[in-house]
Amino acid sequence: MTINWIHKFDNIQTKQVHNLMSNEWWCNKRTLAEVEKVMEGSNVLFGAVDANGKIVGFCRVLTDYVFKALIFDVIIEAPYRSTGLGREIITNVLNNPKLSEVKSFELYCPDKISGFYKNLGFCEYESKLLGYKR
Ligand SMILES: CC(C)(COP(=O)(O)OP(=O)(O)OC[C@H]1O[C@@H](n2cnc3c(N)ncnc32)[C@H](O)[C@@H]1OP(=O)(O)O)[C@@H](O)C(=O)NCCC(=O)NCCS
Repeated sequence: MTINWIHKFDNIQTKQVHNLMSNEWWCNKRTLAEVEKVMEGSNVLFGAVDANGKIVGFCRVLTDYVFKALIFDVIIEAPYRSTGLGREIITNVLNNPKLSEVKSFELYCPDKISGFYKNLGFCEYESKLLGYKR
């Protein structure tokens, strides 16, 4: 399986990310304009591109480059799941030179996915998350 990794997305690739998001429960209501804004507003983007030039994996990171990095929207396209691509995208985040000083990588995830991240060294933090919704 030939996969290339990219950090910059053209218009077609951004639409492909929007399409990936449209199949996932937490982000399937996002418009293309929102996805464009979210990508512009993220610090580091990760895309897996298959041999046909299609985006088949994505995640994005918000960070202060020193203390914290929040990982969002980790998605591998369904036919490519269970092939190691999910592990590769998270490993790429943890090893990215721009994020080399970051002390804590954090993410939201439902219990049923937590095993995937725990396999990669993530653990549950004791501190409780507070939120303010509007
Ligand atoms: C979760 C997801 C990113 C995993 O990617 P993937 O490419 O299927 O995972 P990999 O093939 O790299 O698996 C790596 C390891 O994690 C394990 N794993 C994969 N999904 C898992 C899950 N849901 N729970 C526990 N372990 C899991 C695999 O068995 C594998 O273990 P191994 O090293 O012992 O073989 C992918 O399934 C996905 O995109 N799901 C839909 C979107 C989603 O839920 N994203 C996460 C939001 S928090």
